[in-house]
Order: sequence, then C-alpha cells, then structure tokens
Amino acid sequence: MRALVAARAREPIAPAWGDGPWPLAEPFRVGDVEIPNRVALAPLAGIGNRPFREQARRHGAGLVVSEMVAAHGIRHGNVRTRGMLEVGAGENPVSIQVFGGDPAVMAEAARVVEDAGADIVDINMGCPVPKIMKTGAGAALLADPARGAAVVRAMADAVRIPVSVKMRRGIRPDGTDPAESARRFADAGAALIAVHPRAAADEYAGTADHSISARVVAAVDVPVLISGDITDAASAREALEMTGAAGVMIGRAALGNPWTLGAIARGEADPRPLPAEVLDEHIAFCGDIAVLMGTDRACHYLRKFHSWYLAGRGIPDAEIHALLEDASYDRAMARLRALRAQVGASGWAAA
Ligand SMILES: Cc1cc2nc3c(=O)[nH]c(=O)nc-3n(C[C@H](O)[C@H](O)[C@H](O)COP(=O)(O)O)c2cc1C
Repeated sequence: MRALVAARAREPIAPAWGDGPWPLAEPFRVGDVEIPNRVALAPLAGIGNRPFREQARRHGAGLVVSEMVAAHGIRHGNVRTRGMLEVGAGENPVSIQVFGGDPAVMAEAARVVEDAGADIVDINMGCPVPKIMKTGAGAALLADPARGAAVVRAMADAVRIPVSVKMRRGIRPDGTDPAESARRFADAGAALIAVHPRAAADEYAGTADHSISARVVAAVDVPVLISGDITDAASAREALEMTGAAGVMIGRAALGNPWTLGAIARGEADPRPLPAEVLDEHIAFCGDIAVLMGTDRACHYLRKFHSWYLAGRGIPDAEIHALLEDASYDRAMARLRALRAQVGASGWAAA
C-alpha cells in the first residue's frame, strides 16, 4: 500500500507537455539571477516569513517571495520590520517584497533589501487593503501607472539587484489597462512581472482570468509569472498554455502543502505525504517559528497552520481541534509529538 502511494505520488501528468520536457522544470533568468525552475512561492502577508520560505525552497520552489514589508517601517528602523528582511542561508534565490507609494522611500528600502542579501526586490502593486491603498501603496499604484513607473525607476536606479513588480489587473475590472501598465513598468526597469489577474476590488471572488495574464505576457519582453488559482501541475499546464508565461506563482495551494511546489515543478500529480511525513514537517516548522518569534507569539500564530497541515491528512479531527485550544506552545508541541509517536515510523497508525 505504501509503495502504491509512493508510486502514485511520482506519477507524471500525461502527457506532461507535448513531447518535450516539462517546461516548469527549466531554469530561467531574472536580470543576472538564475532561478533553478519556474515555480515561485507567492508573497503571502503574515505568512511568507523566513521559515515558511526556507521550507518552500527545500520542497522545490525555484524562487520564494517574502510577505510584504513596509518601506516606511524600513526607513524608520522599526525592529520587527527590519527582522522581516532577514534572509536564511539556504533560501536564495529569494525576493523580498516591499510596499509604499513614494519613489524616494521605496528606493531607500530597495537599498536596505539589497544589503540584507535578497536576490530580487519586489514591489507590491496588488494589495487591496484600504488602509494600505489610502497611502498610495499596493494596488493604488495601478490607478496611477506613471507613479508606479516612477517607483520602479527610482528603485532600479538605486540597486544592482533586479526589481520586479507583483500586480493585480487594476483596482476595478474596468480600470487601467494592465497590459499597458506592465509595459510601462518594464520600460521603467522592472526585470520581472508577476500578475494576479483579479481586480483589487474583487479581492478573491470568482476565478482568476488568465486571458488577462496572457495580454500582460504579450505586452512585455521580460519574464512574467502568473498567479491565481494554480493548485497543481494540471492547472499550471492549462494556465501556461493559455498565457505563454515564463512560470507560475503558487499561493494558497502551498498553505500546509509545501509538497505541491516540487510536484508542480516536476510536472507530477499532487503528492500525498504520509501522516508521519506531514507531522515531521509540521513539528520542524513549529520549532523554527518558535525560534523566530518566541513561544508566546508562536502559540497563536501557529493555530492556522495546524489546520492547514493536518486537516485531511489522516489525523483525527478531534486532535486538530484540541491543538487549536491548547493554551501554550509547549502543550501543542507535546500533543504533536504524541501524535507522531502514534503514527509510528511507517506513517500508519500503530496497531
Ligand atoms: C493570505 C494572503 C496574503 C497575501 N499577501 C500578499 C502580499 O503580501 N503581497 C502580494 O503581492 N500578494 C499577496 N497575496 C496574493 C497572492 O500572492 C496571490 O497572488 C493570490 O493569492 C492568488 O494566488 P493563489 O490562488 O495561488 O493563492 C496574498 C494572498 C493571500 C491569500
């Protein structure tokens, strides 16, 4: 049975990609930076910290992008903000995403990001949160592509590492033309564009319309990564066929499932890791988070991750609910270790 599970996990999607090799396994370049494959971990606010990114790289993402970091916080030397710029030893290539609307402040942030060891500095042009947009940052830059381009230019002039843009289609579906905006950003010096083709006003409603992404791909001669509703190799293939993009970005599908990143990069069906593998991965992740933020913060922070990792993986629901109630990090870890002992070395519940 175990052999069967393993065999299924390695099953290629047939036909993988016409007669040729699976295109997402190929390296590509962003400026001078070589990216070993074409699957990137999407920027995820409140989630894409160093341990999460390291895990994604270990599991096969070719590029990892940080959670968004405030350019103003960097300028003011905010301790927590500066901590978000820390790059791990095994992470590169890594992109750090910053948000802000002022070209000079963003240029200063780009220099700090470069000094922190990032390979790419990314600009958030998609955040739909009103508090952020009100400051002229995030998706607000799409309503004013001239200022967006000025931000790109200021940053590209300030650093040697490539500057990239992560954009939505606009603030509203009928707003500025995303293909035209992308062209302006590339002309201003963006070496990579990532596009999530929903409008900011639509947040996550409906499905991502990658015919919009295709127009962005056609408009620029820098690589474009497409983001939105890509959950496995099959949906990646469909979106690539529709757009001709350089690669894909994976967000929500990677929550609790870092295994999917490598599977998509190899053109394999979504893997089904055994409960023991899932628990080992999750226990190690919890430990890294506790080191990063201390056990008090980690206890609360990790609650959403318990469900993401463990639900639907053969772990009893009652145990998952109990983890969400555990009042301390140590208690939750003791419960996870006890579960791990129960599933045994083979991954199947001990008789
Ligand atoms: C919880 C969450 C946080 C996000 N944070 C960011 C962010 O900080 N910067 C950004 O550019 N996009 C952010 N996004 C958008 C994702 O990067 C991605 O474009 C979007 O989720 C669509 O991809 P998916 O369907 O693979 O999740 C976030 C999305 C989610 C769900």
